Amino acid sequence: MAVRPVLRMGDPRLLQVSAPVSAFGTPELRALVQDMQDTMAAMNGAGIAAPQIGVQLQVVIFGVGANPRYPDADQVPYTVLCNPAITPLDAQEEEGWEGCLSVPGMRGIVPRHANVRYTGCDLDGNPIDRTVSGFHARVVQHECDHLWGILYPMRIRDMSRFGFTEELFPGQNIPDD
Ligand code: NI
Repeated sequence: MAVRPVLRMGDPRLLQVSAPVSAFGTPELRALVQDMQDTMAAMNGAGIAAPQIGVQLQVVIFGVGANPRYPDADQVPYTVLCNPAITPLDAQEEEGWEGCLSVPGMRGIVPRHANVRYTGCDLDGNPIDRTVSGFHARVVQHECDHLWGILYPMRIRDMSRFGFTEELFPGQNIPDD
C-alpha cells in the first residue's frame, strides 16, 4: 500500500498503449490496484489509470461520492475495470469540464459520448457490462483514454476553454489537480 508518484503530461510513458491484463486475482494485481486507490484518494481524484503511476497495464479505477472537485456531478460507484472496451450507443455528445491528476492545476471543456456501454472485468476476472450516461460515461471515457495513450487536452476542440483552474474558477477553492 502506497501513494505513488503520478506521471505528468510530457512524460512519454503517458502516450503509450497499455497491455491487457492476463492474470487476474494475483497478489501483484491486488497490490497495483491498492496503490492506485491510495494515490487517487491522496490526490482527491475521481479516477486513475495504471499508466499514470508508470504501469502499462489496462487497469483503471474510478468512483465519485461527494467530491469537491465535481460538486454538481452525479455519483459514480467505485469500480475497478480491467481490459475495458467502450461502445458509444448513439451519436450524442456532451461537453463538460475535466481535470486530470497528470495535468495538475488545469481544467478544460472536453466533448464526450453522452451514452456508452462499457465492458471489461474486475480484478478477479468477473465480467463487468454497464450502460451509462452523463458524468459516469465521461469518467470512464477519460480513464480508459489513458490506456490508449490519450490525455484529455488532446480531445479539446476549443482551446479558449482550457486553462488554469485558479483563473477559470477564481475564489471557488477547487483543488488544483
Ligand atoms: Ni486523467
